[in-house]
Amino acid sequence: MTTIWIKNAEIITMNAYDEQFIGDVFIENDTIREIGKNLHYPEADKVIDATNRVITPGFIQTHIHLCQTIFRGKGDDLELMDWLKKRIWPLEAAHDEESIYYSALLGIGELIQSGTTSIVDMETVHHTDFAFQAIERTGIRALSGKVMMDKGNEVPLALQEKTGESIQQSVDLMEKWHKKDAGRINYAFSPRFVVSCTEELLKEVSDLSKKHHVYVHTHASENKGEIEIVESETGMRNVVYLDHLGLANERLILAHCVWLSEEEKQIIQRKRVNVTHCPGSNLKLASGVAEIPDLLNAHICVSLGADGAPCNNNLDMFNEMRLAALIQKPVHGPTAMDAKTVFKMATIDGAKAMGMENDIGSLEVGKKADLNIMNLNDFHMYPSYDVDTISRIVYSTTRADVETTIINGKVVMENRIMKTLDKEIVLHEANKSISRLIKRVPEIPSP
Ligand code: GUN
Ligand code: FE
Repeated sequence: MTTIWIKNAEIITMNAYDEQFIGDVFIENDTIREIGKNLHYPEADKVIDATNRVITPGFIQTHIHLCQTIFRGKGDDLELMDWLKKRIWPLEAAHDEESIYYSALLGIGELIQSGTTSIVDMETVHHTDFAFQAIERTGIRALSGKVMMDKGNEVPLALQEKTGESIQQSVDLMEKWHKKDAGRINYAFSPRFVVSCTEELLKEVSDLSKKHHVYVHTHASENKGEIEIVESETGMRNVVYLDHLGLANERLILAHCVWLSEEEKQIIQRKRVNVTHCPGSNLKLASGVAEIPDLLNAHICVSLGADGAPCNNNLDMFNEMRLAALIQKPVHGPTAMDAKTVFKMATIDGAKAMGMENDIGSLEVGKKADLNIMNLNDFHMYPSYDVDTISRIVYSTTRADVETTIINGKVVMENRIMKTLDKEIVLHEANKSISRLIKRVPEIPSP
């Protein structure tokens, strides 16, 4: 048994009573055993003095593409369909096993360094096993899957799949990785978006999801051009179509949802579909501003995600929290999306989206030990006197203020030092990988 005693921190629990107090956390293996004032565990394997530090639940990002991390800077200033066709699909088609592995490690390094402890991740068509190996090795909590694309125009040959093969490969990966490492790693069927998938594939995914109780993670209604394609091909609005195929339920995660009709919002509400808001990506790809206050008023579960590195270009939850709050205010007024609402989206609501609200998302006895220790004692976060700590975190704190991160009871970063990956090697190999890939896609302009 391994034990950790974290002493004397300001604890932001995000429990049902929103308790915040100065106290201690005691961790036994992967679980929080005790939280309270003046605990005493001097024999713990590790004692962390967190005096003048703040402890929060680890952040949960419910839409990430680890396979795209090494494409950072390769897709600037384009709108979605051009971004996919001219840059992202050719680059994904050029991936090999090693580049997938280092792209994932680079992304996970950035995520952990900025306090994200859980992700919902979408990989590319091939080599997904290598992303799972990176997830397994680094200790991050993840729901991930290979992307499915059995349809589409201007898709490179290497990404064109046969329906049956796409399903078979997904099932094989599910069998290998779902519920791995005592449930830290899980599988999600990941049809890319309606534009890339046949009706046959989507129906089969719907059946498999029900049969195996496995999540479905896809993009929906991100861009006006996208929903026009879906409407012209299916005669239905995007979410209406997904519902028609039996996909709209509590195991569905829809990234973006910028362009929803009233009917689609009602389906999402009634069927308890989870929405991932990606404000940074929606702005950078000029997709639009999602009507998040509306969705929250309808009690829809909305959580946050940075999306991929080439459409953001950060995987930093502090950016997404700040943007999620600020972009609504000019239209909906200054009280829309207050700091507390946004912080819930970054923590407990992300846990709900993953179906893991009994395990993560708040600091409570019996939950998994996924947490951040932050140092908020610097110019940009002062004064602290009589200022709500959640406001300080959402509006002023930066990723560099996260000192130590624990996932599943394991210290994965301590005093900014990464414990499960070698930063210098990952940076070097990320450059090596993209330099190899870029030679396979000469049509992509270099600066
Ligand atoms: N829609 C289909 N594929 C993608 C993708 O990779 N990223 C984003 N942002 N939207 C998509
Ligand atoms: Fe995405």
